[in-house]
Amino acid sequence: MSHGSDPTPLRSLPARKGLSGRLSVPGDKSISHRALMFGALAIGTTEIEGLLEGEDVLRTAAAMRLLGAEVAHLGPGRWRVAGRGIGGLVEPADVLDMGNSGTAARLICGLLAGHPIFAVMTGDASLRRRPMKRVTEPLAATGARFWSREGGRLPLAIQGAREPLPLDYTLPVASAQVKSACLLAGLCAPGVTRVVEPEATRDHSENMLRHFGATVRVAAQGHGRVIELDGQPELRAAPVMVPGDPSSAAFFVVAALIVPGSKLVIENVGLNPLRTGLFQSLREMGAVLEVGAPRLEGGEPVGDLTVSATGLTAVDVPAERAPSMIDEYPILAVAAACATGTSRFRGLSELKVKESDRLTGTAELLRAAGVECAIEGDDLLVQGCGGPPPGGGVVATQMDHRLAMSALVLGLACRDPMRVDDGAFIATSFPNFIPLMNQAVGAEAIATA
Ligand code: S3P
Repeated sequence: MSHGSDPTPLRSLPARKGLSGRLSVPGDKSISHRALMFGALAIGTTEIEGLLEGEDVLRTAAAMRLLGAEVAHLGPGRWRVAGRGIGGLVEPADVLDMGNSGTAARLICGLLAGHPIFAVMTGDASLRRRPMKRVTEPLAATGARFWSREGGRLPLAIQGAREPLPLDYTLPVASAQVKSACLLAGLCAPGVTRVVEPEATRDHSENMLRHFGATVRVAAQGHGRVIELDGQPELRAAPVMVPGDPSSAAFFVVAALIVPGSKLVIENVGLNPLRTGLFQSLREMGAVLEVGAPRLEGGEPVGDLTVSATGLTAVDVPAERAPSMIDEYPILAVAAACATGTSRFRGLSELKVKESDRLTGTAELLRAAGVECAIEGDDLLVQGCGGPPPGGGVVATQMDHRLAMSALVLGLACRDPMRVDDGAFIATSFPNFIPLMNQAVGAEAIATA
């Protein structure tokens, strides 16, 4: 569990043979949060298939219930949300506890800003350290009021605006969470809400808003985009099919690349181009990733990925690519650790404010495996071992699911086992990661230490 319970130490053994078979990973986390939120704001009943049932998304489901939506679990991945219509959310009778989830916390701030209700929000120790001013500052221009801890940190209290004003906001950092918070607030405001992003970030909110009947205009501007939303639309409930999360597929793709003899098919992976920077970087390292049966599902591109073990070479990842692979740097670092040559990942300042300081955390993870690396400014340099890294270390996961999974994948390709101090947070985004990885490896490679 996320907080208050005992840590779960895990170990991962060097894989004796390659990963094989066909598998699918759980639903996309970003799309799952949004399906529940837009469902709660729509008129009618939204049926969701493939929802990620990780702790982060379950926090959003619980928050939507506290805000008055009816949220029913029908079966594995199948959920039904009876929405209250825009402006129809009710004052929550209890504190909204967002656990480990930055996406839930920030998007729900946007949703609350436009409703004339009072709410209090908190989260676990990791989330309570993360910056919230990046949403509360722009959202205050709607007329909503926020009271928070020093530095804009959780817990915070919100008094939403009775007559919210539309926002016209230029994002100072490339963040889909901040963009989405502004758009959610804009749903409740009259007139046009305008958000300018300096670099294009994942556009699942824009896609789903259209899917629910809102009018959203998007225009390119430099590397970024200008997004305009017509306020106070009537959102109509619509079925949502959630594709497999490319950020979860990433662990299997890299595992198959670095464990010799692997050949794996990962079915039904979301391939939104604003999410696929990792796959591009891996191709530049020499990976062959084949996309089978490309198709569109609910406005999102989806396909089946085939990946085989390959000798990788170092990569230089430009800063502009960061938004399209922001959650994938720890696992890309694992691939770089096994490659030939020194890789450089540029412009990683945003990694410092994730579930942990992931820039430092990734460097520490590599060092625990005997891999040489350096942080230069906001860049990470990884000296590849040109084969199996030594391994044999323990990684402090710092309440960060992606550091935990990356360390365990690295262990499969090292000469000696790797261990993590606490794998409990894997359940926030990928509850069946361990059994699925063991199934692909064909052994109990990952287990409690
Ligand atoms: C997300 C946006 C990203 C990403 C997070 C999910 C989203 O965060 O890291 O895991 O669903 O909008 P930022 O907006 O902070 O870049």
